[in-house]
Amino acid sequence: MLLQAFTSPSTSPKPSPMRAYELIVHKRQGGVLGAADIQAFMEGFVAGTVADYQMAAMCMAIFFRGLNEEELWAWTKAIMYSGEGEAFNLSSLPGIKVDKHSTGGVGDKLSLVLAPWVASTGVVVPMVSGRGLGHTGGTLDKLESIEGFCTRLSKERFLDILGRHGVCMAGQTQTLAPADKKLYALRDVSATVDCLPLIASSIMGKKLAEGADALVLDVKLGNGAFMPTETKARALAQTLIGIGERMGKPTVALLSRMDAPLGHAIGNALEVKEALEMLHGRGPEDAMALTRRLAVEMLLLAKRAKEVAEAEAVLSHALHSGAAFQKFVDMAKAQGANVAQLENPKLLPKAKLCKALLSPRTGYVHKQEAMAIGLGAVALGAGRARAEEEIDASVGFVLLCKPGEHIEKGQPWIEIHANEEGRLEAAMARLEGAFEVGEEPPKAQPLVVGYMDKGCLI
Ligand code: URA
Repeated sequence: MLLQAFTSPSTSPKPSPMRAYELIVHKRQGGVLGAADIQAFMEGFVAGTVADYQMAAMCMAIFFRGLNEEELWAWTKAIMYSGEGEAFNLSSLPGIKVDKHSTGGVGDKLSLVLAPWVASTGVVVPMVSGRGLGHTGGTLDKLESIEGFCTRLSKERFLDILGRHGVCMAGQTQTLAPADKKLYALRDVSATVDCLPLIASSIMGKKLAEGADALVLDVKLGNGAFMPTETKARALAQTLIGIGERMGKPTVALLSRMDAPLGHAIGNALEVKEALEMLHGRGPEDAMALTRRLAVEMLLLAKRAKEVAEAEAVLSHALHSGAAFQKFVDMAKAQGANVAQLENPKLLPKAKLCKALLSPRTGYVHKQEAMAIGLGAVALGAGRARAEEEIDASVGFVLLCKPGEHIEKGQPWIEIHANEEGRLEAAMARLEGAFEVGEEPPKAQPLVVGYMDKGCLI
């Protein structure tokens, strides 16, 4: 019933500024919003009759008051149908189309590797991603640090590339979840990112619009995640799975730790470089292990493999034969990229300044705080402090050690890549207290702490 009511844009009038104001007050006071009001509010936002500041106020009201299940369902579908009023139809493409989304992390370049890797095994991967949000990096910003790589694709081009290469990585557009594109930028600068219903609707709104048949989610928990505790991360995963399943899309989630950045590189071009290493099978252990786990789940959902061992064998072959790297090159070329930068990563943007920070003592690395490092990256210009800010693709960090490793006093633990002295100093200030060394090795923590699927809804 509800679904039908949302399969095309409403003919209900866009709310007047006064009506929008009343809806904000209603939510601020803890009231429940009706589905038609939510849809009209979202349409007004996309059309510009609901002002950005009104949407920011609504997001803040939701931050404090939440959305109940029906409101969340309506809010998600309002995002999903904010483009053409229906999801992309991928039924002409073979097999079960599967995508993955992460709830946001630091140094999380996994999508750049995962999408072409899985596609190189024959599974079609339509991937609609986001930009950097808060202290976390965004897949689109990373891809755009490759010269010419276009993530703003028309529906026709998206579908054409997907049909020819089995993978395409793009952003929200005027036809694909435009509400999320606007909302994302607004939430990023109005302190309304770390809010369960807004995260859940943002992720599922765009993922359901792209037309994938099934979804794998990487739900982060820990200091650098939007959901710091396992309890909150499980609640987010359950909500995401609930929306996916209600839409008839099998959805599974891995819960993974985000206390320290993934891999060594943080910052757009630096992460592309590391992702290329991963596509050659040489990447850092933690990032490779999580990418492989997510890839296995995608192959199982796509029925490309019947069991884990079979999926692993298919994936290993695709990686070591060079097929995964070649798939990334083919996709990037189709999206306008200068592929010379992929063959020779030294051609990627490079910052002017490089400064190493030294370990204050000898011992074992106990802490490399993801949140502080993510905020440091924003200070360098790798992320945005204001919606209209340009990203500096070349800046960021390279971690020279990982938690649990032994380090000597005076040995460098991190490199800062910057283009301006002032920003370098601001980043250094952010890193204060982000690094800790202890005498004993820290207790080893598993990177993946849980798996959830529709069984968690019962
Ligand atoms: N990823 C998204 O796509 N949206 C959010 O709100 C957070 C992470």
